[in-house]
Amino acid sequence: MAQLGALVGALISLAHAQKREASFLVIGDWGWDDVAHGNIQSRACQNLIAESMHEAFLELGDVKFVINVGDSFYPVGVVDKEDPQWDTKWRNVYSSSLRSVPWYSVYGNHDMLAEKSTCSNSESEAAQINYDASNLDRFFMPGFSWFLEHPDLDLEIVALDLNDLWAAQTCPHTSCKESCHASLAQRAEVAWDLFYERMENSNASNMLVFSHYPTDYFWAYPEVLGNLSEAVRPGGLERHVEYFGGHRHNVDQESTTSIKPSNSWLVGGGGGWSCDGRQQGFLVGEIFDDGSMTTRPVLVDYCSCCGCWWWWRP
Ligand SMILES: *[C@@H]1O[C@H](CO)[C@@H](O)[C@H](O)[C@H]1NC(C)=O
Ligand SMILES: *[C@@H]1O[C@H](CO)[C@@H](O)[C@H](O)[C@H]1NC(C)=O
Repeated sequence: MAQLGALVGALISLAHAQKREASFLVIGDWGWDDVAHGNIQSRACQNLIAESMHEAFLELGDVKFVINVGDSFYPVGVVDKEDPQWDTKWRNVYSSSLRSVPWYSVYGNHDMLAEKSTCSNSESEAAQINYDASNLDRFFMPGFSWFLEHPDLDLEIVALDLNDLWAAQTCPHTSCKESCHASLAQRAEVAWDLFYERMENSNASNMLVFSHYPTDYFWAYPEVLGNLSEAVRPGGLERHVEYFGGHRHNVDQESTTSIKPSNSWLVGGGGGWSCDGRQQGFLVGEIFDDGSMTTRPVLVDYCSCCGCWWWWRP
């Protein structure tokens, strides 16, 4: 009788077994610089995370894209599309497998400092903007803020330039203190308009929303937190939202503001600047054929990234 029960149980769970349709990786705050860095003393940490991403990529076998929440090039960003840092901090660090899928990106505050577009607010001058999804020699970033539908995966991506949230700390370090503020404020306005429009109109079961800033930066924006946590799409159907931000250098959920039943992550532990916490690494997201989605962190050895004394290891 017990055996029959076990058999029936196995059959039921087999019938309910989810099949994975696709996966993705999420990373932030990663382009380590040998002159300007925080308490991360070498590229070893970024390299270690890149290796671990490569292993995850091969193991999963169905990674469709990488989400990059910015601060890609410490300390001041790339100046143009020919800047050697594209090689030294990105192409030479992440495997060709990892770069065989698009890197969905936004600007972080560091990325803006040497950028012409920060002062001109012109997308055509932006070193990181690339509208051509098939050009994998660049990030995919068709605008400062942008969205993309993945109907094949019943998924939508919404990328927001919210660097206005850090304008007071960013603008004094640019060559255009005045126009920088206007430029960042204007981008935030575009970002919020896009955000509300997509939250209202998107019919995807799953939404991946990201910017450089985690949800605790939205304390003054209850409508944003409200929209992120409202798990309903047009017509009253269910929707699941995952939100990713970086800026602080750790990978966790505890330091972010909850948007339950949606899910929010801090994913700024990419090894580019410092270790604000003990969790350095990236996220793996998995999308299943029943419409469900999961995300989980993949962390690397703390001491290898952040340095430890022989008499002290956490
Ligand atoms: C939204 O998606 C659902 C199922 O995925 C579909 O039944 C419905 O017609 C869609 N609504 C619109 C307005 O496209
Ligand atoms: C979503 O945002 C809109 C526009 O700001 C607002 O009117 C609405 O109340 C928000 N929804 C929730 C659930 O907070």
